[in-house]
Amino acid sequence: MDSIIIAIDGQASTGKSTQAKKIAKYFNYNYRDSGAYYRAITLYLIQKNISSDKSIPETILNKIHVEQSFEEGSLKIDLNGIDVTHKIRGFKVSSYVSKYAKKQEIRNFVYRQLRISAESSSLVIDGRDIGTVVFPKATFKFFLLADPKIRAQRRHKQINDLSVKVESIEKEIKTRDNIDSTREIAPLKKADDAFEIDVSCLNIEEVFEKLIQKINLQ
Ligand code: DC
Repeated sequence: MDSIIIAIDGQASTGKSTQAKKIAKYFNYNYRDSGAYYRAITLYLIQKNISSDKSIPETILNKIHVEQSFEEGSLKIDLNGIDVTHKIRGFKVSSYVSKYAKKQEIRNFVYRQLRISAESSSLVIDGRDIGTVVFPKATFKFFLLADPKIRAQRRHKQINDLSVKVESIEKEIKTRDNIDSTREIAPLKKADDAFEIDVSCLNIEEVFEKLIQKINLQ
């Protein structure tokens, strides 16, 4: 039987990865967080002071090894053998990631990883261009969006750090959406055949319900 691919694309901080993990656990599929690949690569490149202004040589990309392991509903990310699961969620990586994710050579690197993962198992993947570019023939495609203010408030609660203002999170989210959706290569946009869900007024369980319903109906 062919692998099932469930693509969950959408704006930043709309709960894509929370939903993708829940669905993967529910159906006993594997899970890949495409944004986490871009984040881990960004972490490596900023640690090495490699600017996003120039193209990144293959010799440097070949030194980056990112492993994702999904067990018991949670995802662990290793960068060259070091656990960076939490580090890649920090403000610095979040602020820089869209600049690196615009680059074709970095996108090709991530596409390769994702397509290799799909060879061996059914997958749930969240990102920006999974249903449009990486897996245009995905079995199911979803697109999540929400009001930026609500997304910022939810993210603020999640990070639980009073030194970070909700307004700066909102600004970072809007900037990221803008770069992601206006870039030339693989911009953030809904695939024509994706099912759109506005999650502004829905809680985690309500969104999950909608996704499962749609998957079970087809
Ligand atoms: O899903 P996330 O917020 O962790 O993603 C981080 C960044 O990576 C996002 O701002 C843009 C980029 N990204 C992308 O360009 N394409 C994807 N499929 C996933 C993420």
